[in-house]
Amino acid sequence: MADTPKKIVLAYSGGLDTSIILKWLQMELGAEVVVFTADLGQGEELEPARQKAVDLGVKEIFVEDLREEFVRDYVFPMFRANTVYEGRYLLGTAIARPLIAKRQIEIARLTGADAVCHGATGKGNDQIRFELAYLALDPEIKIVAPWRQWEFGSRTDLIAYAEQQGIAVPEDKRGEAPFSVDANLLHTSSEGKALEDPAIEAPEFVYQRTVRPEDAPDTPQIITIGFEKGDPVSIDGENLSPASLLTRLNELGGKHGIGRLDLLENRFIGMKSRGIYETPGGTILLSAHRGIEEITLDGGAAHLKDELMPRYAELIYNGFWFSPEREMLQAAIDASQAMVSGEVRVKLYKGLASIIGRTSPNSLYSLEHVTFEDDVVYDQKDADGFIELTALRLRLLAGRDRSAGKNS
Ligand code: ARG
Repeated sequence: MADTPKKIVLAYSGGLDTSIILKWLQMELGAEVVVFTADLGQGEELEPARQKAVDLGVKEIFVEDLREEFVRDYVFPMFRANTVYEGRYLLGTAIARPLIAKRQIEIARLTGADAVCHGATGKGNDQIRFELAYLALDPEIKIVAPWRQWEFGSRTDLIAYAEQQGIAVPEDKRGEAPFSVDANLLHTSSEGKALEDPAIEAPEFVYQRTVRPEDAPDTPQIITIGFEKGDPVSIDGENLSPASLLTRLNELGGKHGIGRLDLLENRFIGMKSRGIYETPGGTILLSAHRGIEEITLDGGAAHLKDELMPRYAELIYNGFWFSPEREMLQAAIDASQAMVSGEVRVKLYKGLASIIGRTSPNSLYSLEHVTFEDDVVYDQKDADGFIELTALRLRLLAGRDRSAGKNS
């Protein structure tokens, strides 16, 4: 087959599933495999992944720490828009996929590979996100999606194949996995199996990086987050790199039980699914970013951002990070952030991140105008004409309806 890939860059976690995929690419497709493992802050050692790849005969292995790039170029730009999908999901998985895909394509170029491969199943959003990104960045690239191609019908078949190929199967992976997890510096997401009945509360053992709000400290903790042009730059006066800042917020949020979410969402592919999310640092950041915008953003700009946000969130959720429409929206969002600098004080307490104060050198808040005391800048009589004209069409309408006998 002319189409058979010869050299494939695999997004490899080092776990059982991607190890099986690696072997399958070598054995069934007869391809040479290049392995790419990214540290996105999933909190796992990456050296064992490298060793496993070596053991599986892989010659070209890329293990890269992408945490700073991930937070600086993906997470922070998304937070400038106060982005949430379907009102609540902070998109922790969706925002990581474009970066992994971009790097896979770059590595394909570096190594002369003609194909890329991911380990996402045929039912989810991630396959779409990976593949739209691959094709947006390289229209000729070949894509291998083993979950949609191989014959294994069950987990048992998969384990049998692993054993037959000499891949070590850890004892706890022999049975059905209790649920599927995806983690990075922004969130941990858990789906499937024990969580599949949306009527039943998720068991506590599902949560991996936050305490139960009821078990969080009884004393609140107050922190100050500094912003420059829409991005957080410091905590309590200490300047921090993007990844270290988010790491710090994750520790604080986790300790105070902040950022847990149980969501039944609509997948792009058409079905509904139930997920448990933990986004401790991101949840604090979302609140704080809104706080700094409250004092620095013009009302018209702020309301337009809020209108654009659901569309922007859907583009990221559906895998259109590398698309002209996402870039157009990003340009508008970024332009709005020029004056979004200053400090926000946030109180962390039993699952909540509440804004309790904000200051900015670019403040639009005018005490002179809003004060209940006497002022010299504002004439209250002007409000007469404002209301008179604003009500004009409502009065004309009411007059017409009254004479037509409506509502009587
Ligand atoms: N439903 C989430 C999304 O589409 C998370 C998907 C991956 N999570 C997982 N546990 N496999 O962004």
